[in-house]
Amino acid sequence: MDLLSNKWIVNLLVCCLFIGVGCNSVEKKIYVHLNYTVPCVRLLNATHQIGCQSHLSGNVGVLHVLESEENVDWVLRSGPNPPYLVILESPLFTRSIMMKLKNGSSRVAGVAVVAPSANPLEGVSPHTTCPNENTENYDPSLAHCNVTVWNPLGSGLSYEQFDFPIFSLKDDNDTQVIRQCYMDHNRAVNGSTPQYPLCAMQLYSHMSAVTDTATCMRRNDINFSISPEMVCDPLGDYNVWASTRPINNTAKGHKMWESVVIAAARLDSRSFFFEVAPGAESGVSGFVTLLAAAHALRNATQEAPPNRTILYTFFQGETFDYIGSSRMVYDMQNNNFAVDLDNVHSVLEIGQVGLRADSRLWLHSDPVSRKNDSVNAEVCILYIHDLQTAAKGLNVSVNEPGFSQPLPPSSFQRFLRARPIPGVVIEDHQSAFTNRFYESMYDNAEYLNISYPPNLTPEEQLVFVTDTAKALTEVATVVARALYIQAGGAESQLEGINADPQIVTRMLYGFLIRSNNSWFQQRIPPDFMMGESNCSDRPTNFYVGVAQQRSELTHLVQYLLANLTGSTANISQDNCQNQREDEKDKESKHMYSYVWVQGAAPPNSTKREGFCVRSTVRLSKALSPAFDLRDYTSKNYSTWTESRWKSIKGRIFLVASHDLEMLTLGVGVAVLLASLLLTYIMSSKADILFSSGREPANATY
Ligand SMILES: *[C@@H]1O[C@H](CO)[C@@H](O)[C@H](O)[C@H]1NC(C)=O
Ligand SMILES: *[C@@H]1O[C@H](CO)[C@@H](O)[C@H](O)[C@H]1NC(C)=O
Ligand SMILES: *[C@@H]1O[C@H](CO)[C@@H](O)[C@H](O)[C@H]1NC(C)=O
Ligand SMILES: *[C@@H]1O[C@H](CO)[C@@H](O)[C@H](O)[C@H]1NC(C)=O
Ligand SMILES: *[C@@H]1O[C@H](CO)[C@@H](O)[C@H](O)[C@H]1NC(C)=O
Ligand SMILES: *[C@@H]1O[C@H](CO)[C@@H](O)[C@H](O)[C@H]1NC(C)=O
Ligand SMILES: *[C@@H]1O[C@H](CO)[C@@H](O)[C@H](O)[C@H]1NC(C)=O
Ligand SMILES: *[C@@H]1O[C@H](CO)[C@@H](O)[C@H](O)[C@H]1NC(C)=O
Ligand SMILES: *[C@@H]1O[C@H](CO)[C@@H](O)[C@H](O)[C@H]1NC(C)=O
Ligand SMILES: *[C@@H]1O[C@H](CO)[C@@H](O)[C@H](O)[C@H]1NC(C)=O
Ligand SMILES: *[C@@H]1O[C@H](CO)[C@@H](O)[C@H](O)[C@H]1NC(C)=O
Ligand SMILES: *[C@@H]1O[C@H](CO)[C@@H](O)[C@H](O)[C@H]1NC(C)=O
Repeated sequence: MDLLSNKWIVNLLVCCLFIGVGCNSVEKKIYVHLNYTVPCVRLLNATHQIGCQSHLSGNVGVLHVLESEENVDWVLRSGPNPPYLVILESPLFTRSIMMKLKNGSSRVAGVAVVAPSANPLEGVSPHTTCPNENTENYDPSLAHCNVTVWNPLGSGLSYEQFDFPIFSLKDDNDTQVIRQCYMDHNRAVNGSTPQYPLCAMQLYSHMSAVTDTATCMRRNDINFSISPEMVCDPLGDYNVWASTRPINNTAKGHKMWESVVIAAARLDSRSFFFEVAPGAESGVSGFVTLLAAAHALRNATQEAPPNRTILYTFFQGETFDYIGSSRMVYDMQNNNFAVDLDNVHSVLEIGQVGLRADSRLWLHSDPVSRKNDSVNAEVCILYIHDLQTAAKGLNVSVNEPGFSQPLPPSSFQRFLRARPIPGVVIEDHQSAFTNRFYESMYDNAEYLNISYPPNLTPEEQLVFVTDTAKALTEVATVVARALYIQAGGAESQLEGINADPQIVTRMLYGFLIRSNNSWFQQRIPPDFMMGESNCSDRPTNFYVGVAQQRSELTHLVQYLLANLTGSTANISQDNCQNQREDEKDKESKHMYSYVWVQGAAPPNSTKREGFCVRSTVRLSKALSPAFDLRDYTSKNYSTWTESRWKSIKGRIFLVASHDLEMLTLGVGVAVLLASLLLTYIMSSKADILFSSGREPANATY
């Protein structure tokens, strides 16, 4: 009774005080949680950490919408209420402004970039000018883009380290709330200083790992023995591969009589922000072309098989110092892959091929290995003979870059590092990249000019053959025919090898517009998670992710490649899922892989009719050998890891002034002390105060 009344008095007291000093601002305090935010996260390599992070309890700053580059002075010097949380419209998200903010980071609490709904006109690339330069093995005269700077627009922003969080916001109602809040409360009108309460933003993106990969892997190990709390994970995933002739995948190492032509493309890409990696030109144009070429070759390689095997390989993690290809080469060298390097006849890689000017393709080769006469002779055959023959009668011209320059960044580099193998990389650029948005958030469907007539339903868009699809189909036909000749096939068969624009257009739609579409759905297993993170109404995400998980992308490519190169097998679901033709069969799993896919529903039913696909499609690890070798400072292999984090979120609210907050705190503390004192006095004098009303404690016994 007495304690209750005591509390009541305190409450009354506090509230009165608050009403006195501005209950209003507290009452009106708004919290808006930002739903569609994307952070920049911390990555580490052998020597550096890059990316962003907040304090453990989030970074709070007064909102400031930056209006121009000159306006940055308000944030760094003149503004009276630091630290600031800077809102940038995307044209201002430049290296120059970001480096100024980085330098003045004591007054910067964080940055939020408003992603535009349409691509900019100017080229933008947050990547380096010389991608993967540290893991290429050229002598100094060719190394570090000495001869050709591949990505001249690269600002290197993606490889900087920031001490504050940087988020990307979708331009929607949330962003409107932010702008409004800024206009209402924070904007300095006619040079006056804005008055409290001010609009503030809080961003959480605390990262567990620090310094470099060696440090975080050591911490992982220590922590693992105490409590299984990891601080970072190696980047990686799985490579996808298939062969035109079945190869015993259980027996590793050298295969007598086997000679393979490797047809390679890379899968992954990145941008400044986590899991925003549209990679349309940098990745999708190449691997969709290779998938289409593999399909075009299915009939010819079965009916008139050339005497060499074609090995289709799709590499993961190439953006981060060639994780996938370096692992495959390492496995080949250590007899841990279905074939070894002695089995490799040559390599044909498809790079960026979505933006051809005048229908020209450029065939890049390696000037160092071509000093070897036999390699040079093979390269000349690949170039002059095979590819030109393959392009005959098609609207594609194949050209050699006119001067001796090193290979552009490509997986083939990793094969050349192991030994001089003849090979060619097909690109749409002669020297520097045509791609003006390399590894940026703008390298998307819009950039590849994939657009549809208005008013088409998603199903109609899916089957609409775009001009981009037609152009890539021609490239795929050239690639397929060149591979066929390269594998020793007869030129008389070439007429029958044609890529299918219907399939190319569906794949472009699936990877760049919506992965949740009927064409993909018919080709995936029933238990492949749809919705949520997998197969959503968005384009596929091409960021490689951490090595423990196989990404949606790897799965999709695996199932599509199986459907495009394999055959339907009349096998029960049970046997199919157990990798066998029937109950007695124990041998087939060495040669084939089986996947049960959900198929389509017949017209008069809603139940899908699944079936089994037999193919030679396999996954192989794409984890950098540095982590198997526990060589975390490796100079030969990728050492990239991704930090772990607990929460990523952002919100905006109004803050009272610092003085007011201090006053409120002071009053609170005073009230607390007073009430403690009161309670102490009351309890110590309780005998006197309440003696009449109290029963003796042992009275009932
Ligand atoms: C953001 O999320 C909250 C809670 O999840 C929800 O109430 C709110 O409507 C969402 N806002 C928007 C703009 O979707
Ligand atoms: C970084 O800030 C300091 C002052 O804090 C200034 O003197 C210096 O010029 C700045 N450096 C750059 C590169 O802007
Ligand atoms: C490339 O490297 C060579 C040898 O180190 C040097 O002589 C040459 O000037 C360099 N070229 C360029 C463009 O930097
Ligand atoms: C690690 O990354 C940083 C930033 O990109 C780079 O400067 C450095 O050379 C890299 N270290 C190694 C060993 O590749
Ligand atoms: C955004 O605001 C507009 C009008 O203010 C409203 O019609 C729309 O539904 C809102 N969208 C969301 C996602 O809240
Ligand atoms: C700011 O200045 C403009 C003219 O320079 C004036 O019209 C406006 O009323 C002023 N606003 C405030 C809030 O003083
Ligand atoms: C365990 O990990 C935490 C970070 O998550 C780190 O602060 C701590 O130092 C680690 N413990 C040991 C023993 O290294
Ligand atoms: C494949 O290799 C494994 C292991 O060497 C062997 O047991 C199996 O019989 C081989 N299968 C075929 C079809 O060659
Ligand atoms: C492959 O052959 C089948 C039948 O022989 C034919 O229906 C199909 O169109 C051919 N596919 C291609 C891509 O040529
Ligand atoms: C493949 O066949 C061609 C003739 O078509 C022959 O010249 C060549 O030696 C054969 N290559 C292999 C590896 O068997
Ligand atoms: C590929 O998928 C389609 C649609 O489910 C199906 O009709 C076709 O038979 C499949 N091809 C193979 C080889 O399984
Ligand atoms: C669906 O149609 C097929 C042929 O068009 C027929 O064989 C089958 O019985 C029909 N199924 C149902 C459930 O009506």
